[in-house]
Amino acid sequence: MVNSTVILGSTGSIGRQSAAVCRRLGIRVPAIAANRNVGLLLKQVEDFAPEYVSASDPGANRELREALSGKGVTVGPPGEEGLRIAAAWPGAECVVTAVSGAVGLRPTLDAIDAGRRIALANKETLVCAGAIVMRRARERGAEIVPVDSEHSAIFQSLSGRRGELRRILLTGSGGPFRGWSREQTASVTPEQAVRHPNWSMGAKISVDSATMMNKGLEFIEAMHLFSAAPDDIEVLIHPESVVHSAVELVDGSVIAQLGVPDMALPIQYALTWPERRPGASERLDLTALAGLHFMKPDLEKMPCLALAMDCARRGGNAPAVMSAANEAAVGLFLSRRLGYNEIYGSVSAALGSIGFIAEPSLDEIIESDHEAREFIKENYA
Ligand SMILES: NC(=O)c1ccc[n+]([C@@H]2O[C@H](COP(=O)([O-])OP(=O)(O)OC[C@H]3O[C@@H](n4cnc5c(N)ncnc54)[C@H](OP(=O)(O)O)[C@@H]3O)[C@@H](O)[C@H]2O)c1
Repeated sequence: MVNSTVILGSTGSIGRQSAAVCRRLGIRVPAIAANRNVGLLLKQVEDFAPEYVSASDPGANRELREALSGKGVTVGPPGEEGLRIAAAWPGAECVVTAVSGAVGLRPTLDAIDAGRRIALANKETLVCAGAIVMRRARERGAEIVPVDSEHSAIFQSLSGRRGELRRILLTGSGGPFRGWSREQTASVTPEQAVRHPNWSMGAKISVDSATMMNKGLEFIEAMHLFSAAPDDIEVLIHPESVVHSAVELVDGSVIAQLGVPDMALPIQYALTWPERRPGASERLDLTALAGLHFMKPDLEKMPCLALAMDCARRGGNAPAVMSAANEAAVGLFLSRRLGYNEIYGSVSAALGSIGFIAEPSLDEIIESDHEAREFIKENYA
């Protein structure tokens, strides 16, 4: 188990649950960072007495600085720099990357460079620059332990058997609009889209779960984390969210990880690995389940998943363009400036308009990300 961890995105859904796990296990939190939620950052400063805190938003940063003046806590600068300082904060063993979106990329690389364990929640980082991030982690000997429940399940099921993997079975509930036609989803509102049937999460990932883009992002994340080819990953719709994912080994054995839908367990495991500690989640009562169902996804009704799987096969900068365009489009949808069905159309258009780069450098990935966001802003905002 780690003794200390930084939490990037400490005020979000994963960040707050990570803080609760740290409190329960007595893990020290020397640095925290978020964007705007000054009230909660101040509460977390009281709870954890960190040495460092930052807020990226300039107004929130000023407010934080005033509130903490003379209190002996270092307040970091606004913007990405504040997050990057937190990511490499001296003396921490681990960094929980729980910011949402591609803003997590450079801080994650900084944490890897500093040799920290990465408890990786921020999937956009691996989607946009998985090859670079995984190579850097191998070179620096940094452990990447997934927090995403599906990848934690795969990680747990594969433990010690990486060379014997035949296939990953990546499960997903299918979201709140499973089985809905395009005509039915046309009038979906942000309120409906963020209400997930099984999981309580931040707004962006909830919308991604509804469109099934989230499963597509996870498909790409799994390729990088487990060195799997696209044809070695099968997506299965599993409405009960009890089997968090599984692996098929070369001899045909299928090993799965099951549990109640609660992120506390994968967060805790990323911090205690390779040990296990009691008390993460409610216990699973298999006899209380009416049944477990699995089906192939209907890709015609899930165009974002099909698009992401296509980008996974294309590789290069395509996943970075897709992820950034999706982030921008979801932002517009949440502020009611884009219809639900237009999320797919706009991301697809961005992919068609931005030049393909087969082996992008980090700078080219960041440039592609900016171009994709600009494309969405210019054409849809
Ligand atoms: N929620 C889940 O159950 C779940 C499961 C698996 C994976 N994930 C992944 O985990 C990540 C976080 O998801 P979430 O649901 O926890 O998101 P969330 O509730 O929206 O929280 C996002 C966090 O990131 C911070 N943040 C956003 N932009 C920032 C910036 N520019 N600089 C610094 N901090 C910034 C937010 O700060 P403010 O609060 O101050 O705005 C907040 O603390 C995502 O990549 C998601 O895909 C989430």
